[in-house]
Amino acid sequence: MEVILVDGPNDAAHLLADTVEDCVAHTSPTSLGVATGSTPVAGYSELVRRHRAGVGPSYADTTFFTLDEYVGLAADSPATYRATIARDLTDPLGVAADRVHGPDTTPSTLQTAGERYEQLIAEAGGIDLQIVGIGTDGHIGFNEPSSSLASRTRFKTLAHSTRVDNARFFDSIDEVPHHALTQGLGTIMDARKVLLVATGPTKASAVAATIEGPMAARCPASVLQMHPHVVAVVDAEAASQLQWRNYYREAFDGKMRWKGQPGQ
Ligand code: GLP
Repeated sequence: MEVILVDGPNDAAHLLADTVEDCVAHTSPTSLGVATGSTPVAGYSELVRRHRAGVGPSYADTTFFTLDEYVGLAADSPATYRATIARDLTDPLGVAADRVHGPDTTPSTLQTAGERYEQLIAEAGGIDLQIVGIGTDGHIGFNEPSSSLASRTRFKTLAHSTRVDNARFFDSIDEVPHHALTQGLGTIMDARKVLLVATGPTKASAVAATIEGPMAARCPASVLQMHPHVVAVVDAEAASQLQWRNYYREAFDGKMRWKGQPGQ
């Protein structure tokens, strides 16, 4: 895993935007997996800012897949992840609604929703770049601790701590759904590249377990240790429990020096 330590959320946002733009500019057609939550929002705003300034790539050939979706919200609720991604990212980028996909939470067909979402991703040729945030309990998507490390898109029950963490997006905790459909850990692992972004002190313990802990279902994000192409962008607060911080800095500086060599 490549660990890039940054000072704060603003630097993380710029790196997220750079990574997305690099992927979109060099892959055509492109499939982007997009996470919700607060962490990527500043990065999405930066992408929108660049797009509006006319310096971003064209998204005409890009298809978006949300990482997960609440089950039990009204289809027109502004809190759905589909609405959130449209509001924060795809509408401002001018992406047509039929190029933005999320798991189908229609109650009558929930049983087959996971399989159908996997099919949709496969038909698009798989995901080129998957952006993930991390929950305080180490979840990615809504894969709570004890999730199978090989899991595919499916129905999950949310941990109480996750509902508490996400209550700020609702009027009260009672409104936070108890269930979700989420890409599985195996689904996320199939993405050709994964960008994990973690900022703030509440993520420090989950980040340390993800990057330096044993790979274990108690910290679902730790499965990323087995992915050959993960970049973890971690700000100073979220990195505070990492033991190998100095090495990550040395490795990043070394890579930059190497890139500066003639022919690189
Ligand atoms: C939710 C989402 C995750 C997200 C996590 C962290 O549970 N399902 O995809 O990574 O929240 O969110 P935040 O970035 O707001 O801390």
